[in-house]
Amino acid sequence: TVDIVLSPELIETYSSKPVLCIVIDVLRASSTIITAFANGARRIYPLADIETAQKKAHAGALVGAERNVLRCDFAMFGNDPGEYTAEKVGGQDIYFTTTNGTKTIRRCLDLGHEVIIGGFLNIDAVVCACGGRDVLCVCAGWQGKFCLEDAFFAGALVQRLAQSHSIASDAGRMMAELWELHREHPLDYIMGSDHFARMARVGKEGAVPYCLTEGVINIVPTASGSNGDEIVLR
Ligand code: MLT
Repeated sequence: TVDIVLSPELIETYSSKPVLCIVIDVLRASSTIITAFANGARRIYPLADIETAQKKAHAGALVGAERNVLRCDFAMFGNDPGEYTAEKVGGQDIYFTTTNGTKTIRRCLDLGHEVIIGGFLNIDAVVCACGGRDVLCVCAGWQGKFCLEDAFFAGALVQRLAQSHSIASDAGRMMAELWELHREHPLDYIMGSDHFARMARVGKEGAVPYCLTEGVINIVPTASGSNGDEIVLR
């Protein structure tokens, strides 16, 4: 089956047995992580909080940190995929914390699920990685609330997986229909979203067209580790 969790707050109400979770934060943590790996990053460590990220930065590590769309001033990178160039991240380990995306990754792992990172950029590779397994598309949303761009992408995934998976709920059916309605003009549609407005208010909306580009990166970042253990994406 394939299903969509519309907010990370709801994840506990879904499968009690471990499944494959596709963590989705189209704007922008997923897109940034996928891009950093495409540009040669070695490992990305998703951190829970700003304090840990700050300590890592002071110890000289490469840190990406975002809160409320903006780069934290102690960090070298914010959460704009364009910052993570091959020159800057090639061969490097990066410590990374964002308002919702990195928290969602950690939450799924803490519940014992497997985690991969999905976005429009790597949609084809993600579909391949699902094979015949039960899949939960977990939308990172915004501070526990629903986000259109994440659910829209989850709909695109469900629509593609529907050939091999049965759709487990109304959320899956609804979002697959939403994707069908707006797939010809994703940018126009997402420009009406809350998060586009949040980004535009601080001049950060430039990354949106790139984040909506389908299937240009053939990499599926995969997480390992859990509570107590260091969590790492490769
Ligand atoms: C997040 O983790 O909430 C986001 O990726 C926010 C952003 O930087 O656009």
